[in-house]
Amino acid sequence: MTIEHKHILVTGGAGYIGSHAVWALIDAGAHVTVVDNLTTGHRWAVPGQADFFEGDVGDAGFMNDVLSKQGFDGVMHFAGSVVVPESVENPLKYYRNNTVVTRNLLECAVTHAVPYFIFSSTAAVYGVPDVTQVGEDTPKSPINPYGMSKLMSEAMLADVSKAHGLNYAALRYFNVSGADPQGRTGQSTDGATHLIKVACEAALGKRDGISIFGTDYSTQDHTAVRDYIHVSDLVSAHVAALVYLINHPGENLTLNLGYGRGFSVREVLDAVEKVADTSLNIREEGRRAGDPAELVSDVKRLHETLDWQAQNDDLEKIIANALSWEEHLSKRNG
Ligand code: UFG
Repeated sequence: MTIEHKHILVTGGAGYIGSHAVWALIDAGAHVTVVDNLTTGHRWAVPGQADFFEGDVGDAGFMNDVLSKQGFDGVMHFAGSVVVPESVENPLKYYRNNTVVTRNLLECAVTHAVPYFIFSSTAAVYGVPDVTQVGEDTPKSPINPYGMSKLMSEAMLADVSKAHGLNYAALRYFNVSGADPQGRTGQSTDGATHLIKVACEAALGKRDGISIFGTDYSTQDHTAVRDYIHVSDLVSAHVAALVYLINHPGENLTLNLGYGRGFSVREVLDAVEKVADTSLNIREEGRRAGDPAELVSDVKRLHETLDWQAQNDDLEKIIANALSWEEHLSKRNG
């Protein structure tokens, strides 16, 4: 079974990961309906082939209207807030946008008998793990409201599945980066804080340089290590997860999405300098609050479960695609 001709509702489909997912679904032959309130997403990021409704996933009346328009075969839920430090300053925003809104969407999905629900979760549910490669059964111990808001949604999914028979995949993202290799969409959020996006902006002169947060970690070059996964591989794993749910009635999935290997901040910056053929103005600063030294996924379960293979497991390709998108944004914004 494939997802060709299936009707899929994508929340947050005008945002970074959501817009890549919309393209992946269209490429796989699905019919896509996007809901987005455009607070961080962009209307132009939604492909013309998709239906679009502007509104809030937390608005039950609006969502029931959208879900009444036709039967949906599945929901991919990307809408939410994603900035960890902001979640510490404004936790109630995160418990609303990531937990209460998910509760509302789940209620609407149950009311309208949507059978499959794909949920954007995060490696932040693990907190600061004491293992270097994090498996799905590693204890969950979020250290910020962002991670907790997603973990609470995972708990709701499990309960709703038991009570109402909806099947779900909770996908825990490691460091999502890069942009569509065909240049159709990319990370367009203003004021981004993520390493590869910031480094690409610095390489193009949009920033005067970049800081390394922490040079005293017990890693090989003393900077923090992360598992950077290309956004196109991340979204193709969502499509594979949906196909899995369709082909395995009654099953749910909780999976890490990463490559299972890490790069240090310095390795990333070296690669950006190489790909962009420039030298960055690099400042060394103290550690950023709440950063673990090393966060790399154990992807055994991912590979054993899904019919999925990474196509872009190459740091320089991730950076080249991110850089091309950054150049495109510069031209677009004049
Ligand atoms: N970093 C720098 N300089 C920068 C930006 C980042 O040195 O200008 C460092 C960070 O300190 C960290 C690493 O680069 O060590 C990666 O930082 P990112 O901000 O790119 O990503 P995080 O690992 O902090 O965050 C990611 C996801 C979050 C998720 C978190 C789980 O983006 O959504 O992993 O730990 F919550």
